[in-house]
Amino acid sequence: MIVEQNVPLQAHNSFGIVAKARALVRVRSEADVQQLLAHGEHAAVPKFVLGGGSNIVLTGDVRPLVLKVEVMGRRLVENGSKALVVEAGAGENWHDFVAWTLDQGLPGLENLAQIPGTVGASPVQNIGAYGVELQDRFDSLDAIDLVTGRIFTLDAGQCAFGYRDSVFKHVAAKDGDFGLAGRAMILRVRFRLPKPWKPVLGYLDLVRKIQDSGVTLPTARQVFDWVCAIRGAKLPDPRVIGNAGSFFKNPTVTPEQCQDIIAREPNIVHYPMPDGSVKLAAGWLIDACGWKGKSVGNAGVYDKQALVLVNRGGATGGEVVTLARAIQTSVYERFGIRLEPEPVVV
Ligand code: EPU
Repeated sequence: MIVEQNVPLQAHNSFGIVAKARALVRVRSEADVQQLLAHGEHAAVPKFVLGGGSNIVLTGDVRPLVLKVEVMGRRLVENGSKALVVEAGAGENWHDFVAWTLDQGLPGLENLAQIPGTVGASPVQNIGAYGVELQDRFDSLDAIDLVTGRIFTLDAGQCAFGYRDSVFKHVAAKDGDFGLAGRAMILRVRFRLPKPWKPVLGYLDLVRKIQDSGVTLPTARQVFDWVCAIRGAKLPDPRVIGNAGSFFKNPTVTPEQCQDIIAREPNIVHYPMPDGSVKLAAGWLIDACGWKGKSVGNAGVYDKQALVLVNRGGATGGEVVTLARAIQTSVYERFGIRLEPEPVVV
């Protein structure tokens, strides 16, 4: 275990913001964490767990000790009659893992192709795309307590998944409170892929692919290729243009609130939810306020998807946050809706 000082983080956050970690430890196994905790000097200091950095905005150098997750490995754990269970180390790249499952003939994650970030970050914000959420394919995960060094396993219920939310996004103010942010590090995640495999094709963009291609019974590989093409057409590649995916969550309102907005804004994009609420497309709200293509300093709104904020080159975290606040204000003034950011501001 080596503690590195003043480590540049630009390559470790998908926004590509320039910042440093005052101190950083690469964690390749639970033993690295246990060794760290045995070290009096590092045991008590605040810690920040960094995965692929695809859901953070760095507004300055990171003062807590950064634990860079580099736990690797991928394997088939179980091949049962009703499901396959596959496991991956938290440090594995998410998209490469999804591609690997398909190469191994283990379908079920194809709708989640090309989401930036790591396997360990996937349950933190319950990633989702094109009709599938991580919680639909989740089995369990192993994590390590950053205070005691104890390893524990959580099932889906214990992860308390919500829309882009889990127990790992909440800070517990005192012992016994709900929340594991800053308290635990995810080591390995297991996914349960139902048998027989059935494609999930209900999302409008996929319906269009079926219509355009004439393929009505696609393979998992075909769905994977379609999802990659759809994402490539409207989302910027973080290796080329820094970004953190959708910057805001899609807000939900009551049917009454929705009717009130429709009366004023007949074109608003909205989806009824199973619980009776109505989800609004945040991208549409931001677009309707004229933000597409606009900038604050070097931070901008992507011109093909208004829900994505981008680094046009040399943006600071402060510029991203200022832009995000300006967007929140204009959406609130026009629609009376408060947009909630998806990434964590550090
Ligand atoms: N729209 C506009 N203008 C825009 C952007 C969107 O009018 O600038 C409209 C679109 O026409 C469409 C609707 O808004 O009718 C929804 O857009 P889209 O299908 O692109 O999906 P989204 O709701 O913007 C969500 C997820 C994405 C995920 C896609 C596909 C959230 C916050 N975002 O985006 O997830 O890939 O659905 O399932 O839920 C992420 O979380 O980082 C992410 C990329």
